[in-house]
Amino acid sequence: MTVDRYAHAAPGWATGAARVYGPLAAQLVAAAPHPLAGRRVLDAGAGTGLASTALRAAGARPVAIDYSPAMLAWDAAHRPPSAAGALEALPLRDDGVDDAVAAFVLNHVDDPTAALRELARVTRPGGAVLATSPAAGTTHRSVRDRIDAVVADAGFTPPDWYAHLTTVQAPLLGDVTAMRDAVDAAGLADVVVTERVADVGVERAEDLVDYRLGQAHVAAWLAALPEGERAELRRASVAAVAPVMAPYRPPVITLVARVP
Ligand SMILES: C[S@@+](CC[C@H](N)C(=O)[O-])C[C@H]1O[C@@H](n2cnc3c(N)ncnc32)[C@H](O)[C@@H]1O
Repeated sequence: MTVDRYAHAAPGWATGAARVYGPLAAQLVAAAPHPLAGRRVLDAGAGTGLASTALRAAGARPVAIDYSPAMLAWDAAHRPPSAAGALEALPLRDDGVDDAVAAFVLNHVDDPTAALRELARVTRPGGAVLATSPAAGTTHRSVRDRIDAVVADAGFTPPDWYAHLTTVQAPLLGDVTAMRDAVDAAGLADVVVTERVADVGVERAEDLVDYRLGQAHVAAWLAALPEGERAELRRASVAAVAPVMAPYRPPVITLVARVP
């Protein structure tokens, strides 16, 4: 991974995107097949630490790894131990952690099976591997698309990596069969893969807008806007969404498995 897609994303992620990804991280940790209290758990692709927070609440001892030093730097004083590193070559020894969590990061790699093998390598036999990726469903997107239209009208063009993420990488795990095939090829055991529409408690237009404008693809562009223009963009996005706002329920693929 040569480009840090998340170099400018930490503030928006932690204060906006977290409205959706925080509940999703908590739901993933809650899916663990055994109690996590006292266990050393890898938070792979930790970002600003949403899964680490859920792991700590469960009594676990997380260790965070992410390729973006900027994401790991967010609130670092209150975060668990962390290291910059890529999912493709985790800076951990074999069997170095008891369990591993990968919340919405396997969908950022070109070879998810290799990344799953790497999670299995660093996790002790019997340990859990928990992961989420976005499901390919589109019905939840029609409201969100209104925000994207406002941003596009204001001159935003998504970076090339975002097109690669959404059209090439995410579809590699975009349904139950695809996730299942990748996990089976990685040699994990006791595999349970589900697709569900997640209730994340986002019901107000303001929260949906903060989530969407907090995502990484738009972060650098937003940060370069004058404060007044940024505020106006948010107002226009809320106005575009409010008339059709419904609870935001993204479809999510969840993996629960064990290292044999
Ligand atoms: C969608 S965010 C998810 C962050 C966090 N897990 C959460 O649920 O809020 C993806 C994170 O994975 C990191 N990431 C992307 N590709 C990675 C890779 N190949 N190796 C390690 N981290 C990666 C990004 O820097 C970013 O922080």
